[in-house]
Amino acid sequence: MRYKSAMKIPKRIQPLVDDGLVDEVIRPLMSGKEADVFVVRCGSEIRCAKIYKEADKRNFKQAVQYREGRKVRNSRRARAMSKGSKFGRNQQEEIWQNTEVDVLYSLANVGVRVPKPYGCFNGVLLMELVSDGEGDVAPRLNDVAMSEEQALEDHAIVMHYVKLMLCTGIVHGDLSEFNVLVDEYGPVIIDLPQAVDAAANNHAQWMLERDVNNMRDYYGQYAPELLATNYAKEMWALFEDGELNEEVELTGLFEETLESADVDSVLLEIKAALAEEEERQRRLQVEKDADSRGAEFREDMPASGVDSQGGKRAKNSRRA
Ligand SMILES: Nc1ncnc2c1ncn2[C@@H]1O[C@H](COP(=O)(O)OP(=O)(O)OP(=O)(O)O)[C@@H](O)[C@H]1O
Ligand SMILES: [Mg+2]
Repeated sequence: MRYKSAMKIPKRIQPLVDDGLVDEVIRPLMSGKEADVFVVRCGSEIRCAKIYKEADKRNFKQAVQYREGRKVRNSRRARAMSKGSKFGRNQQEEIWQNTEVDVLYSLANVGVRVPKPYGCFNGVLLMELVSDGEGDVAPRLNDVAMSEEQALEDHAIVMHYVKLMLCTGIVHGDLSEFNVLVDEYGPVIIDLPQAVDAAANNHAQWMLERDVNNMRDYYGQYAPELLATNYAKEMWALFEDGELNEEVELTGLFEETLESADVDSVLLEIKAALAEEEERQRRLQVEKDADSRGAEFREDMPASGVDSQGGKRAKNSRRA
């Protein structure tokens, strides 16, 4: 058989080849919106190299809302970044490129299934190639169909992963059926350069909701009972109260706190019930008074001049 020649090495991967981190670039895998992904060989292992696009070629994930709360310990760096100088932009870029590898290491540590990372070098992330049972690249969740039972099982696994992430203080920020791969063991979470700090970023709550609801809607196609769940609100409430930990069993049930409009209508209902009761009491009292006045009236009258009918009429006329 003719030797299958390796492809030309992309410029950005060349330094990794020079340093002996990558031995061969096998083929391009995917050209995403934010990165180009290649299948590479490192020694005897097949891995994946993700080359981040330059800042001006990327789009939404670099949005300022994702950057909020990212910690920059060095104050010279922080100042440069806030000024937007070239040095500042480079610093920003470096942080962007390193976020994914940092997050991958943290998540792998707490038991979230992510591709095993092998470092990030000059904007090229080396990681495990997630593959299916036959050695082909694993499909994205969007490309697979499943039974209701499978959907319920996988949805529970993904919710568990989202919970573990939140326990670590991380919100994915772009979780969807396009950023989950499915191998023979189940879902694997990918694509994390935009991950946000759950405690420091003011957008973390709605991003968590969007992530969780994307998963609910996706698996809900196969298991419609999931569509009524509210894992996002449940998790966030526990997180805010400092009660979220990896052992917490999520239910997907969450009592929406009463909106102010609801409070108002409940108050109105209570007021109406009180008014009704007051009115009932007042009528009872009036009747009681009338009865006792009727009795006095009868006692005052000569016995022959009045019959029981007269007393009744008098009472009836007062009531009218
Ligand atoms: N570790 C991996 N194993 C197998 N395939 C992968 C891996 N990482 C990425 N891919 C493939 O490459 C595609 C692009 O990767 P990723 O989502 O990380 O990059 P992106 O450019 O940010 O994508 P997007 O198009 O979502 O912006 C994925 O949809 C997936 O098909
Ligand atoms: Mg992606």
